[in-house]
Amino acid sequence: MKYRRPTRDARRVIGLLGALMVMPLWAALATAPSIAAHANARRAGERTTWDSVFSAAQAGRGETAYKQLCARCHMETLAGGDEAGELTGSAFMSSWNGQSLADLHERVRSTMPTDTPGVYTAQQVTDVIAYMLRYNGFPPGSIDLTHANDALKSIRFVSTPP
Ligand code: HEC
Repeated sequence: MKYRRPTRDARRVIGLLGALMVMPLWAALATAPSIAAHANARRAGERTTWDSVFSAAQAGRGETAYKQLCARCHMETLAGGDEAGELTGSAFMSSWNGQSLADLHERVRSTMPTDTPGVYTAQQVTDVIAYMLRYNGFPPGSIDLTHANDALKSIRFVSTPP
């Protein structure tokens, strides 16, 4: 049978159907990385930042340390300064989504502060991360976050709730 161009009405219907089908796909694509990150963490027997991985007391110590060590560049609001990136908000959340807390710890420990990198102790960085997690809405629990025994490697930063 010879191919015939669809009529104008038919093309309009096809276009509308196409748009209707693509919309849920967009919604699914937007949440897929987070769903995948939760699923990957579960499969690997890991915890995520939603599993109450720091204590409120530790976040309090981290807040004091953050104000002394980081706020001069990243601001008290964690919103970042001239060149220092944001440590809160959707860009920060999505850039760390799926990475481990060991990655975040290593990034801060070895590259911050940018004018004299490497001067923070592993404990200071761990406490500051607890504060950053609390600030970004992750729930505290009863046990401190620890950098000992590679524990941070098995905790995954996941940007949205399970
Ligand atoms: C002297 C200023 C300065 C201080 C102090 C400082 N930072 Fe930074 N930080 C920067 C700059 C500039 C960047 C962007 C350049 C880069 O990525 O290396 C940055 C980037 C970062 C990033 C990467 C952001 C991202 O999502 O890509 C993190 C995380 C970070 N800093 C955390 C910290 C923490 C936590 C502290 C305190 C323990 C700290 N910084 C102290 C200047 C600073």
